[in-house]
Amino acid sequence: MNIAQTMKERSSVRGFIDKPVPDDVLQRIFKDAQKSPSNCNTQPWKVYVFSGEKKNELSRKLVEELQSGRPPVPDFEWSVKYQGGHRERQFASAAALYGALGVEREDKQARASAMLKNWQFFGAPHVAFFTMEKYLGIMGAVDLGIYAQSLSLLLAENGISSCMQGALGQFPAPVRAMTGMLDSEGVLFGMSFGYADSDAPANAAKTDRAELSDAVHFIV
Ligand SMILES: Cc1cc2nc3c(=O)[nH]c(=O)nc-3n(C[C@H](O)[C@H](O)[C@H](O)COP(=O)(O)O)c2cc1C
Repeated sequence: MNIAQTMKERSSVRGFIDKPVPDDVLQRIFKDAQKSPSNCNTQPWKVYVFSGEKKNELSRKLVEELQSGRPPVPDFEWSVKYQGGHRERQFASAAALYGALGVEREDKQARASAMLKNWQFFGAPHVAFFTMEKYLGIMGAVDLGIYAQSLSLLLAENGISSCMQGALGQFPAPVRAMTGMLDSEGVLFGMSFGYADSDAPANAAKTDRAELSDAVHFIV
């Protein structure tokens, strides 16, 4: 698939089949992603990929954190309150997902259990955590975002679906404990990935995009 076609066909996937990506395929894709550009070629991304029993152990620990009732303690500030058109799109994307899942807007419990699936990695066989030195701030975050999208397109080209997850930055402690990350390093976000389950209701959720003229201005 070429890039334009991949972009047209891609969407976030939140339901996976129980089939790991072969190790040589993973190695090749992550090697190709290393070609991602970054400011001054600093390559600030440090990526931890969990699979198998370690992935399950991490999920259990994250769910425990979530259910402890303790507030999230992200390494980076994520708590933007969306306004205006951004807020409308935020609501529309949630409505697309909950609509596909058949969850009513008022059904708090069903919404909470749908949310919980973030930390169960939506049943994916793999999850990547994107981390960087905390001092980098916005410059590093730009580079990590570009890296993550490069990675996700490379995965898509190989028939592997993914979902980027800001939610995975909320409880960094278990990730830190299982990786030996230094205190100077922070978890920015994560991404579950694997082969899509075409029968999973969540994967029927589709989002739309603004008109080109609302987003891009060609000035001549
Ligand atoms: C930085 C970032 C963080 C995201 N965080 C989450 C998340 O925590 N949970 C989730 O289910 N989806 C998450 N998403 C997926 C978005 O909701 C999704 O990309 C958006 O609604 C557009 O839909 P599409 O990817 O299917 O085109 C995230 C996407 C990005 C780029």
